[in-house]
Formats: sequence, structure tokens, C-alpha cells
Amino acid sequence: FAPKLLAGHSLLLTAGPTREAIDPVRYISNHSSGKMGFAIAKAAADMGAEVTLISGPVNLTTPAGVKRVDVISTQDMLDAVMSRVDSHDIFIGCAAVADYRVADVATDKIKKSSSNMQLALVRNPDILATVASHSPRPFTLGFAAETQDVERYAKDKLVRKKLDMIAANDVSNPELGFNADNNALKVIWAKGQEDLPATDKQTLASQLLAIVAKRIAILKDD
Ligand code: C5P
Repeated sequence: FAPKLLAGHSLLLTAGPTREAIDPVRYISNHSSGKMGFAIAKAAADMGAEVTLISGPVNLTTPAGVKRVDVISTQDMLDAVMSRVDSHDIFIGCAAVADYRVADVATDKIKKSSSNMQLALVRNPDILATVASHSPRPFTLGFAAETQDVERYAKDKLVRKKLDMIAANDVSNPELGFNADNNALKVIWAKGQEDLPATDKQTLASQLLAIVAKRIAILKDD
């Protein structure tokens, strides 16, 4: 039984990878499993929040009580988020968004011919930073997966993307983070931080949301 710490709140979150088409049969993507995002969606619903989960292609079942919207590309994910952001008061960007997309997606399957080929890529929009600059903005939480100087890079991201909070994890440890069942997080906001030691992603999701609920309550009283 979870205390209803998020009753009266609505959470919009992204999870999983995005896929960028190269041609009708190929794409660029990454190894994100979506597990952390789905665990957060479940924990938030258990804590009484209304939850909308914008998910990239993953092999996971939708947690009970969660509204799920499936998307493929980064642009699809951005559109799905921005059309719903005004009706939510918390946003969590948990997706491993593809940073680049193919400049010109081929309409037909690309044939192999020469021994080398080049693919021109263009930068994708940053969904999290777009939400954080939107007005009115929800309480905005981002993730930072780093392999070195975790705290420094996370703090830099918190400021640069204008976030309320960032949850950083060290993905250099194969036991934790990307695709693993366990994770550890350093949760950082402008005036403080809390370390959540390694545990399963469902427990971690509840602990993270308890911090979010506390910060939102504090901000309301400021
Ligand atoms: O800058 P970096 O990609 O490391 O930031 C990670 C955070 O930003 C995650 O919360 C991720 O969901 C979000 N992000 C995003 N759109 C992008 C890139 C990252 O929402 N194009």
C-alpha cells in the first residue's frame, strides 16, 4: 500500500528509446529498455497521480491505471508531449531520446553498392528542454546517464536545461542503469541533493517520487 503522496497531481513522462528511420526497413536507436520510466509510471499511479506515459518502442506491459501513448521517432515523442503538457503539473523525461535523426530518410530500401557509405544526421529537438522552457511549465525532472564526473555533468544539465530536478546515474557500472533491473540515483535540485543507493528500479521509482512530492509541497509553500 503506497501513501497517496501524489493525489491531485498529474504526471506526464517519457520512457524507452526513440527510433530514427534510415529507410523503410532500417533505423538508428539505442539499448534503452524503458524499465525505469515504466517503474516511475507505476509508482506514480500507486501514489494517486493521474499518469500519461509517452513510450518509445519497448517490450513492457502498461502499468494499471496508466494512460499510454506509443510513439516511434523523437519528433513524434515531442509532438505527443507538447500536445499534453498543459494538462499536467509534473513532467519527467526518462526516455533515451536519439540525439540525431537521418537528414533525408530514403523512401525505398537503400541498396548496397560501394564499400563505404555516409549517412548525414541532424540534431533532434531536446524534449526536456522544450518542456522546461514552456509556459506555464510543469515541475520538470530530467535524467542524466553519465560515465564520469556524474555530479558535475548532472548539475550542468540542471542549469543548462532549466530543470527543477535531475536524477543522475553512473552507467559505467553494467550492474546498474541502462537495461539493468537495478539502479542508483543522485537526485539534485538547486538547493540540495539526496543519494538513493542501488536497489531495484521499482523501489527507486517510489523513493524518487517521494522526493518530488516533498519538493512540490515545499515550492507551494514558498
Ligand atoms: O543531454 P542528455 O541527453 O544527457 O539529457 C538527458 C535528459 O534529457 C533525459 O531526461 C532525456 O529524457 C532528456 N532528453 C530529451 N530530448 C533529447 C535528449 C534528451 O528529452 N533530445
